[in-house]
Amino acid sequence: MASEDADQVLAAWETSSQYWNKHQALIEKMYAPLTRALIDEAQIVAGQSVLDIGGGAGEPSLTIAHVVGPSGHVTYTDPTAGMVKAAREESERRVLTNLEFHQHPAEKLPFANYSFDVAVGRLSAMFFSDVSTALREILRVVKPGGCVALVVWADRELNPFFSVITQILDQFVPAEPEDEDAPAAFRFARPEKLAKLLEEAGAVEVKERALEFATKAPIDVGQFWELRTEMSDTFRTKIAKLAPSEVTAVREAVQKAAAIYFKSGSMSFPSQVLIVSGRKTVVEE
Ligand SMILES: C[S@@+](CC[C@H](N)C(=O)[O-])C[C@H]1O[C@@H](n2cnc3c(N)ncnc32)[C@H](O)[C@@H]1O
Repeated sequence: MASEDADQVLAAWETSSQYWNKHQALIEKMYAPLTRALIDEAQIVAGQSVLDIGGGAGEPSLTIAHVVGPSGHVTYTDPTAGMVKAAREESERRVLTNLEFHQHPAEKLPFANYSFDVAVGRLSAMFFSDVSTALREILRVVKPGGCVALVVWADRELNPFFSVITQILDQFVPAEPEDEDAPAAFRFARPEKLAKLLEEAGAVEVKERALEFATKAPIDVGQFWELRTEMSDTFRTKIAKLAPSEVTAVREAVQKAAAIYFKSGSMSFPSQVLIVSGRKTVVEE
């Protein structure tokens, strides 16, 4: 990926960070099943040293800090300054002392070889500017036999939390042809795509499984519109191209289409992700 494209991706995340910070509590709740799945997949336990890649507004780092406890340690990384600031401030509010913060991309980690028992990434691998370099770099800093576990979105059509807006927005702003290798939410939705890259990077015992879960939060459909159109750079960019009357039309159509996912002021979207994991080989080549 050209460096100006990588800069553009990071600039978009910099703008997004204020909204991920604003909605931190909701995002933590909505994606808690994914954090639990990563903890299970990597079998994270007390006393371990865990690296979080692309930790955004703080997850899964903040939850894992509790799991590893005072005898363990979590190292949060993210290349976006606003995300690092939000996550660090949240950690300070919670008075967590076994957590440290670094502003770095996965492609260039400032850690010695064999530093961590486990590395995890929740919904971040899709945005790596150079996936192969990033995966090799993650494997470099994990101890021999250590686990790398990454969670990425499965197919868009299995995730109405996204598609209910995309389908309507596309009627107003013509969708550009998608490059399935460009950094975007569904870059690794095709089964085995990320698993193959992890294997090529040198991981062994590579596995992939689909996880169905519900994206749940105590919000109504109006709050859903605000949350989604703030969190997503793609949605923000498309909406910025619309006239005010068109924004109103899109909002009304989305709220109508999304109504089936709301009951008594609470949201629940059926959702699906892929959990891709592997181990660093014990015998160095
Ligand atoms: C969808 S957010 C996920 C954040 C968090 N892990 C969560 O699940 O709430 C994607 C994150 O990936 C980060 N990111 C973008 N490019 C990256 C890279 N090259 N290396 C590591 N993280 C990156 C972004 O800054 C952003 O915080």
